[in-house]
Amino acid sequence: MLMIFLFILQWVFGLALVLFLGYIAYIMISFKNPVPYVPTPRRIVKIIVGMAEIKEGEKVCDLGSGSGKILIALAKKNKRNLIIGVEKFFLPRLVSQIRLFFRPSFKKRVQVVKADFFNIDLHSFDVIYCFLTPEAMRILEPKFKCLKPGSRLISYMFPLEDQAGFEETIEHISMKDSVYLYKKI
Ligand SMILES: C[S@@+](CC[C@H](N)C(=O)[O-])C[C@H]1O[C@@H](n2cnc3c(N)ncnc32)[C@H](O)[C@@H]1O
Repeated sequence: MLMIFLFILQWVFGLALVLFLGYIAYIMISFKNPVPYVPTPRRIVKIIVGMAEIKEGEKVCDLGSGSGKILIALAKKNKRNLIIGVEKFFLPRLVSQIRLFFRPSFKKRVQVVKADFFNIDLHSFDVIYCFLTPEAMRILEPKFKCLKPGSRLISYMFPLEDQAGFEETIEHISMKDSVYLYKKI
């Protein structure tokens, strides 16, 4: 019995180690991508969840959802919403799926889709969160301009260059970081 337990433990530990090392490697390699993997800091996550003011039934999206941190924080507070993470890369998607596996109550309302956020239709979303780069924001700007009136875009760190058609609210957190909320008029 003890041998079986040790055998299983060895496999679980080995798998966890492989995942952990893979994740570290992914973080390092991701810095070669135009939009690298950098998770939103915990204290900012709380601010975003509050700022989003998500209403029942609204459809929410995290563009480049990484390890699913924002998805989980949003799903904890908003229990009657569909929350979608768009993530192009395998490893962060896998980490999100593992995190969601341990939260079965989120199963129907949180999804992580494999897609390139530059190529998806954003029309159906009421709230969009992004923590990207100035360049990615610039490329996505025409898509943001086509959002439904009343929908909100929340961007950590990087503002929209052209805010025409939006009502802007800025939450300055420190000298370095701010959260930008854009409500489509
Ligand atoms: C700065 S991280 C933000 C992660 C997460 N949203 C958070 O706030 O913790 C940006 C994420 O976008 C993903 N990403 C980069 N380019 C992408 C693309 N073209 N389509 C979809 N996801 C992309 C990266 O893999 C990374 O996970």
